[in-house]
Amino acid sequence: TAKSSKILKDAIRTIPDYPKPGIEFRDITTLLGDAWAFRRAVDELVQPWAGAKIDKVAGIEARGFILGGALAHQLSAGFVPVRKKGKLPHETVRIAYSLEYGLDEMEVHKDAVKPGEKVILVDDLVATGGTAEAAVRLLREIGADVIAAVFVIDLPALKGADRIRALGVPVHTLMAFEGH
Ligand code: PRP
Ligand code: MG
Repeated sequence: TAKSSKILKDAIRTIPDYPKPGIEFRDITTLLGDAWAFRRAVDELVQPWAGAKIDKVAGIEARGFILGGALAHQLSAGFVPVRKKGKLPHETVRIAYSLEYGLDEMEVHKDAVKPGEKVILVDDLVATGGTAEAAVRLLREIGADVIAAVFVIDLPALKGADRIRALGVPVHTLMAFEGH
């Protein structure tokens, strides 16, 4: 509802000039710390797939892990961590992706999904979409059928959601903040 959307949006804290001047940082810790808002956000993120058979939820380190565990529980699905390089102990596939400054790499275990398994990807926020695009590519490389990507926050000015949709992955977000 419009009312619950406003309450969820009000649960996000905005920190001016963090991590550097001119950036307005959208902080989800206030939403996570609010019992009603956290539950409501989880319910709304999975709502389009209520009753669907989802095999796995994949969460992107680090903030996507917090949401991903809750989403997986809610959907009675397994959880798959998509991690920064060097953290996963078994055989992995790895992909480079661009951040604001330079490149980073992320990994997923090769056997984290079985071919054709239906996977929902989750992260706290989509900005440029570079992080989520890399995760979609990794998951597809190990055989996942990525049926959606869900985020609490969209920054539409940066067109990241469009970038994910262009990969053929539907995107579902709970709120948008204009500007960067
Ligand atoms: C932030 C955010 C997303 C990503 C979005 O993560 O949590 O994962 O940036 O940016 P993009 O759409 O432009 O790729 P960050 O890299 O700060 O790492 P963290 O979640 O581990 O703090
Ligand atoms: Mg992140």
